[in-house]
Amino acid sequence: MTVSDKDWDVFTNEAKKEEIDSKKKVKVGIVGCGWIAGSHLKAYLKMEDVEIVAAADIIPGKAEKFFAKYGVEGVRCYLSHKDMIDNEDLDAVSICTYNCQHAEPAIYALEHGVNVMLEKPFTVTLDEAVAVMKAEKKSGKILTIGFQPRMSENMQMIKKIVQSGELGDIYYLQAGGGRRRGIPTPYGTSFIEKETGGIGAVGDIGSYSIDMLLNAVGYPKPLTVSGYTSNFFGTDPNYYAKSNHPEYAEKFGVDDFAAAFVRLEGGIVLDFRISWAMHMDTCGDALILGTKGGLRIPSTECWNGEFKTPLKVYRNIGGEPMCYEVPMIETKFDLFEQKLRSFVNEVKKPDGEGKATVSSAEILYNQAIIDGIVKSAELGKEIEIQIPEI
Ligand SMILES: NC(=O)c1ccc[n+]([C@@H]2O[C@H](COP(=O)([O-])OP(=O)(O)OC[C@H]3O[C@@H](n4cnc5c(N)ncnc54)[C@H](O)[C@@H]3O)[C@@H](O)[C@H]2O)c1
Repeated sequence: MTVSDKDWDVFTNEAKKEEIDSKKKVKVGIVGCGWIAGSHLKAYLKMEDVEIVAAADIIPGKAEKFFAKYGVEGVRCYLSHKDMIDNEDLDAVSICTYNCQHAEPAIYALEHGVNVMLEKPFTVTLDEAVAVMKAEKKSGKILTIGFQPRMSENMQMIKKIVQSGELGDIYYLQAGGGRRRGIPTPYGTSFIEKETGGIGAVGDIGSYSIDMLLNAVGYPKPLTVSGYTSNFFGTDPNYYAKSNHPEYAEKFGVDDFAAAFVRLEGGIVLDFRISWAMHMDTCGDALILGTKGGLRIPSTECWNGEFKTPLKVYRNIGGEPMCYEVPMIETKFDLFEQKLRSFVNEVKKPDGEGKATVSSAEILYNQAIIDGIVKSAELGKEIEIQIPEI
C-alpha cells in the first residue's frame, strides 16, 4: 500500500491551509453577549473576510460592554435579536444565547433569510428542534450546530475507523467521560436554572458525547429510551461552599447526572451516562463494539474535542486477541476557530450551495435522545421516541 500526498496531508495538517477570498465580506451579527460569544467574536475578528456589524443582548448595556471589552468599534448594539435582524443587512448570525433561547432567535433569523451558527445543544426540547428545522427548510439557508469537536482530526478518526469496516457491524456504543465536580457556574446561573438552561449535564456535555458516538456510526435513528436523571449535587448548598454561592442550590432546576439505555435503528444500542458532578472521577472510556473489532475512546471532556491518550483498536489478528493504538494527530489549529471558519466558508458559497458542517438532520436525533431521556426519567419508564415529520 502506498500513501499518496493527499493521504499524508491528513497527518501533517497541510490540508487545512486554504485560500481565503477576503474581497467578499460576510456580515455577521451576534445574538447573546455572554461567555461563549467572546470565543465567537475573537474567532471572527481573525477573519479578513468577516465584518462584525452588530450584537444583541436582552440585558441593557451588555452588548456595548462586550464590544468595548474586545476593542470593537463602529458596530451597533440592540436589546433584541428581532431589532438587530430587522435593521441590519446580515449574512449570518452566531446564536450564543442560553439553551432556552436557542430556538426563537434561530427561527427568526432563518425566516428573515439569515444563515445561522447555533451553539450547542441544538435546543432544549425535540419540539423546538423540529420548529427550527421547519424554518430552515423553508428558508433554504444554512443552519449549523456548534459542535467544535467535529473539527478535530483525532475525533474524525473514530468515524474513519468505523467506516473502514475494521470493526465489522457495530452493535453497542458506550458513552463515557463526565465530571466529578463541574457544574458550570463561572459567570452566573444561566446553565443551572430551568428557565434559562432548561436541561443540565444531559444537554450541555451529554450532547457532545452522543454526537461523538452517533456521528461515528452514521447517526442511526433512535427508537426507544429508558432514561434516568438526578440532581443530588446541584441542589446541595454545600456543593457551592468553595465558590461562596450556597444560594445557587435553590436556583438549581436541571439535572447534574443522567444515564440511559437507547435502542437505535440497525440493531445498535447506546449505553449512556454523563455527569456534571458525582463521587467518581469519570464514567469511564467510551466504547464502540463491532462484530470484528472494538474501539476504546479514552475518557474525554468532549467539548475540547480531544483525548489525551490514543484510541485503541481491539481485534483478533492471526486468531489471537490483539490490541493496537492509533497514532494521535497533533492539532495545529484551533477547533473553535475552525468551526466558525467552516461556517463562513459555506455562507460565502452561492445561494443554495452552502452546507451545514454539523447538520440539523443529524442533531435532530441527538436532541430526540436528550428529550427522550428527560421524558422517560420523568415518567420512570421506557418510552418510544416519536420524531415528527419536517
Ligand atoms: N461550544 C462551546 O464550547 C460552548 C461553551 C460554552 C457555552 N456554550 C453554549 O453557548 C450558549 C451560551 O452559553 P454562555 O455560557 O455564553 O451563556 P451566558 O449566560 O454567559 O450568555 C448568554 C447571553 O444570552 C443573552 N440572551 C438570552 N436570550 C437572548 C435573546 N433572545 N436575545 C439576545 N440575547 C439573549 C443573555 O442575556 C446572556 O447575556 C449555551 O447554549 C451553551 O451551551 C457552548
